Amino acid sequence: MPILFDGERRLWALRSGGATYGLAVDGEGRLRHLCFGPPLPRLEDLDRTDEISSPLGRESFFPWESPGGPNERYEYPAWGGMYYHEPCLKATFDDGVRDVRLVYEHHDTRGDEGAPELVVTLRDPHYPLRVHLHFRLFEELDLLERYAVVENVGRAPVTLEQALSAAWHLPRGRDYRLTHLAGRFAAETQIFREAVSLGKKVLESRRGNTSHHANPFFAVDRGTATEEWGEVWFGALGWSGNWKIVLDHDAWGVLQVSGGVNDFDFAWHLEANETFETPSFVGGYTREGFGGASRALHRYARRHVLPSGGHRPVLYNSWEATYFDVDEETQGELAEKAASLGVELFVVDDGWFGERNDDRRGLGDWWVNREKFPRGLEPLIERVHSLGMDFGLWVEPEMVNPDSDLYREHPDWVYHFPNRPRTESRNQLVLNLARREVREHLFAVLDGLLEENEISFIKWDMNRPLSEPGWLEAPKERQREVWVRHARGVYEILKRLREKHPGVAFESCSSGGGRVDLGILRYADQIWTSDNTDPFDRLKIQEGYSMAYPAKAMMCWVADPGFWAKNRTASISYRFHSAMMGSLGIGANLLEWSEEEMEEAGRLVGHYKEIRDVIQEGDQYRLLSPREGETTAVQYVSGNRRASVIFVLRNPHQFLDPTPRVYPRGLKENSLYRVTGVEEPRSGSALMGRGIEVSLEGDLTSAMIELTET
Ligand code: GLA
Repeated sequence: MPILFDGERRLWALRSGGATYGLAVDGEGRLRHLCFGPPLPRLEDLDRTDEISSPLGRESFFPWESPGGPNERYEYPAWGGMYYHEPCLKATFDDGVRDVRLVYEHHDTRGDEGAPELVVTLRDPHYPLRVHLHFRLFEELDLLERYAVVENVGRAPVTLEQALSAAWHLPRGRDYRLTHLAGRFAAETQIFREAVSLGKKVLESRRGNTSHHANPFFAVDRGTATEEWGEVWFGALGWSGNWKIVLDHDAWGVLQVSGGVNDFDFAWHLEANETFETPSFVGGYTREGFGGASRALHRYARRHVLPSGGHRPVLYNSWEATYFDVDEETQGELAEKAASLGVELFVVDDGWFGERNDDRRGLGDWWVNREKFPRGLEPLIERVHSLGMDFGLWVEPEMVNPDSDLYREHPDWVYHFPNRPRTESRNQLVLNLARREVREHLFAVLDGLLEENEISFIKWDMNRPLSEPGWLEAPKERQREVWVRHARGVYEILKRLREKHPGVAFESCSSGGGRVDLGILRYADQIWTSDNTDPFDRLKIQEGYSMAYPAKAMMCWVADPGFWAKNRTASISYRFHSAMMGSLGIGANLLEWSEEEMEEAGRLVGHYKEIRDVIQEGDQYRLLSPREGETTAVQYVSGNRRASVIFVLRNPHQFLDPTPRVYPRGLKENSLYRVTGVEEPRSGSALMGRGIEVSLEGDLTSAMIELTET
């Protein structure tokens, strides 16, 4: 049984193949954390006394036994009494009391095979407030998905001022190290590694989207883990609005990592019988290093998060080729070229609608621009279909330009405060998705587009963060709910569209990778990783992305050297190899490609289709990091370990520096594999043990090595 309960000791063990998570009710009815770490086959090994009992009693003067001392590890800490670490829950009751106590009420086990769920219900002993804590165990992945539902079971309202998804606890210790993802526009998801020091470290977004600047993922190790070995505790939050992850480390060695919806400018009003459900926070434990952590998250995303199965098609997007100058003729010509390469999905980006000739006007007016498409989109779509491709379209539904019919008609639909400017960014304002009529309008517009045109793909963009988040039409006590309601509004519209148009796939974009998280991946099949399409810069962005998110959902374009690629020139094959490490797309101006370039590109697209199952569905190993040396190498291994692909890319380096050997992983030791460029088949153990020699001369050169079991 993966979820064991010892009734006498009121203790649970959640056991997967490689980890055990233990929790228990203490003498005062509080739910304490026991352990999260290596497998404990015997329930008896979960030692309650060691972790949570207090021989000296709670009133002791001695700091090691007093509240706030080393034993204070609650599964869902509420702010009340002498609790000083980061709480998951902070609330104010109707009579003004701001002190919450949570004690065990009952529990329940449910869920499917392979993913059983424990729900522990806590209640306040005096006030009518319940919290249902969900723990869903993914046995094969050593992952635990957690979320909480806070319920007002009384008559009077309650205000939530903080309601996080979960708190994770590490074994008491020192010398912990944090790995996290941070960055900026055009350099998203960069990997940062630093010592966890005493105090609090907050990773967060206050921008209304996930943000380019931080990503809701963490990994903590004992300072010694590598890509393939060592204990790592990690987690990723499924939320695309304001979020925070707080590492709270004290001199007793307590390290708690809590996360969820950001409490900054947050308040949630719970009327009688209302509930607040937090987003989910998945966490895991592995002894297989950062690579092990990533592979578990990738599988989790592929099996349990992404809304669709099957492989992602090879896509062409015309943004960098034509920018706002889209019209039926040019797009048709680009489509011919794309089809000749074997592209499967042709996407028209910004510029097809309203008065959208630049970024100063038109957002909000989602009708086809008749100057650019005098006969509507239909003739272009037909042409694309006749070329054997699906058709996709760009939209940015959450936004308006002040210079748009929509804004002129509904100036009150955007977030704003009276007596304050409506701050524009990229000449646009954000629609208030907390308002039902705005959500209904957007659903109707998008539904109409999909009803009237044969569209199989929508790129959903969001090109600015929120500011002046006023929603003064709402009752005062509800106005700070906007941050959560905005993200929920996006999810709601996507969900409704998916239900009504099950054949349509969605890409999440926010000026590149500003909305990359496990929350949006429940509704979007893929993500636009970054506006930076330079094939070398991309390696670091893609590496960071791969810490938490699956290659399948990572859209990568082969682009031209130009503004976005800093005019750095790289060969066609290097550009392809960089982009083939995820879901392949092309964003170049194919009208300017030579016949030879087209031919080579066509071969590479064909090749990608042959191996894409390994890339999109396989296990990923980061063999050599672009951050560390002169070579980047990333390997993908199919589920049955019979096929593998390694991309090796030479970073800028010094004259005569040799390419390092590449040591593959994940192969079957006793099987023979045929290897690109090697005459005789080699055993898996020889390949993994002795490595493969790759000779690459010159900066930005690359190779793709295939390994196939004979
Ligand atoms: C954002 C996106 C780009 C493109 C433009 C269009 O920058 O990230 O890919 O769609 O908007 O305006």
